[in-house]
Amino acid sequence: MAKDGTFLMNCWYVAAWDHELIDGKLLARTILDQPVLLYKGDSGRAVALDNRCCHRGAMLSKGRLEGDCVRCMYHGLKFDPTGKCVQIPGQDVVPAKLGVRSYPVVERDHLVWIWPGEAAKADPSLIIDIPYLRDPKWRGMAGYMHYDADYRLIVDNLSDFAHLAFVHAKTLGGSEEYAFKTKPVAIERLENGFRVERWHMNANPPPFHRKVTRDDGLIDRRNIGLMYVPGVFFLESLFAEAGSGAEKGDFSKAKQYRNCQFFTPETPGSTHFFWNYLHDYDLDNPTVALSLHDSMVEGFMEDKAIIEGQQRMLDADPQFRMHPIASDAALAHFRRVLERRIEAERLGLRQVAAG
Ligand code: FES
Ligand SMILES: [Fe+2]
Repeated sequence: MAKDGTFLMNCWYVAAWDHELIDGKLLARTILDQPVLLYKGDSGRAVALDNRCCHRGAMLSKGRLEGDCVRCMYHGLKFDPTGKCVQIPGQDVVPAKLGVRSYPVVERDHLVWIWPGEAAKADPSLIIDIPYLRDPKWRGMAGYMHYDADYRLIVDNLSDFAHLAFVHAKTLGGSEEYAFKTKPVAIERLENGFRVERWHMNANPPPFHRKVTRDDGLIDRRNIGLMYVPGVFFLESLFAEAGSGAEKGDFSKAKQYRNCQFFTPETPGSTHFFWNYLHDYDLDNPTVALSLHDSMVEGFMEDKAIIEGQQRMLDADPQFRMHPIASDAALAHFRRVLERRIEAERLGLRQVAAG
């Protein structure tokens, strides 16, 4: 179990894509260092329980789904969706308090969200609204990837546009030369994250876009990046024919993308990464989503190689200190926001414990 203050607990995190819970699957997933069982029973409602049977600690995910309940297949204790033990084979009385912990869960826009902290504070209105995941004007393909790295290193990476030119020169980004010419983007500091916006006029289309449009013509490109606590990232991209007036609001010659990414700590040193890269054109053609999906995986693998290597270097010497440069402003702001929230939570918990 991670020690207090490692993670922000009172917050919604993505636990799974909804399609991971089809066919009565009992999904075992470690979330914020806690073993969780996720499933949907006959009623179709998503359930999250402690994956440790309260009898002798067997994995409930190796158990059996019965209606909306799950039965541990070691000695047969049966639990309802609230985690309460409702049956002990061969024993008439079930102690009223016997059971496993259940977590608040909300299924929305194809995502299953979990609240790992105090259940009483789990307010579904705090879940970030993501209209693109439900709006038929957008088409994409849900993805999942696992990282052997602290989730904050991945959030840092997304907050850092300077790496695009070097890590993704051939896939998502521009050229190395671009990194020397451009100044770090101005960031809008939000209470809960940050927002950056950048126009890039008369530019070459990036390889992943060219691959689907087969068009090498110059483009005016706008990127809006948004990052929210605990690790929710959106990149809203617009690629318009150069000179078609997109920066004045004429989007008639524009093709757009919405990159939705969600990071959930598995342990202090590993991360679940859920993502969907959506597009708003040629919606009847499934190969567009497929091609974009493959291009993103290619790009993410480049990040993964760098970040997992970085994690190994950091682990090898806990005394090592990073040295910030100007383009780290966004990630530095985000880390401060996150640390403040974690600290406030820790102090709050301490006050409750003292009172
Ligand atoms: S460990 Fe689950 S019933 Fe015994
Ligand atoms: Fe990257």
